[in-house]
Amino acid sequence: MQRQRVRVFAPATVSNVGPGFDVLGFALHRPGDWVEAEASDRPGVELLEVTGDGGALPVDARRNAAGVAARRLWRQARGGRPAGLRMRLQKGTPLASGLGSSGASAAAGAMAANQLLECPLPLETLVACAMDGERAACGSAHADNVAPSLAGGIVLIRSYRPLELVQLPVPDGLFVAVVHPHCRVSTGEARARLAGRAFPLPDIVANAGNLAALVAALYRGDLELLGRAIEDRLVEPVRAAMIPAYDAVRRAARDEGALACAVSGSGPSMFAVADAHDAAAAAASAMRRAFRAGASLASDAWVGPISRRGAAPVD
Ligand code: HSE
Repeated sequence: MQRQRVRVFAPATVSNVGPGFDVLGFALHRPGDWVEAEASDRPGVELLEVTGDGGALPVDARRNAAGVAARRLWRQARGGRPAGLRMRLQKGTPLASGLGSSGASAAAGAMAANQLLECPLPLETLVACAMDGERAACGSAHADNVAPSLAGGIVLIRSYRPLELVQLPVPDGLFVAVVHPHCRVSTGEARARLAGRAFPLPDIVANAGNLAALVAALYRGDLELLGRAIEDRLVEPVRAAMIPAYDAVRRAARDEGALACAVSGSGPSMFAVADAHDAAAAAASAMRRAFRAGASLASDAWVGPISRRGAAPVD
């Protein structure tokens, strides 16, 4: 029977993951965004309400990441019934946090529309629709947030044209600490810092080595190698000055035994990886103290394994 209503949760994500600028990301269990959508006789996609954003986001399906993604999906699934959908977006992911906030909204919008149409479209199409939402929100259609938010787990974007996604294994025993300091970094501005920049060949070589080693580490379940591989010599050094207390936070995580610590997406959130839940929790506490001591910033933290579950209907 045709679904008349659906509520979808789409997880926040950590993208770049060190050396994988725009090509690597993984899903968190929390936070995330919810989209509730219902069938409507009125043609097209309407966004009725956005909550949890403090009024910062447009309540207009043509400009909001969730609405843009749902609209494209609705158009693409031609001949779909019902005629339209009405949706409500509930933000749980902090804005401009580096946790894929617009990506989670876009993923939830695309998934909700697909569910109402009885899932006619495959994952790659949902990702392409959500990339449109990402572009509407921050000016760039990168997929390293929307792909893991939709697919769950760790996703590599092998190619953008054509879009080719590679799901990577999530090793057992890998725990992540994510700390979000209460300040904002605009992804658009963070990307503008990279425009027209030339990178030295030795740094490109180092990143190629790290990204390849990171993939090998995931397949081998070699967490020590994974820790060594989460190091970006290209983008993160350019953006580090945008992250308050960047050096102190990294040091704090490493001093607590984290295997690696890096910027999540375009920041200001940072993430650390560890081989035990307790170690990840200790790293999160140390990172929070460092944000407080080094930049007078309060923060939130999430600790746990990578989520293997992507955007999906919830009760
Ligand atoms: N790969 C993107 C960037 C993620 O670093 O700009 C931001 O959402």
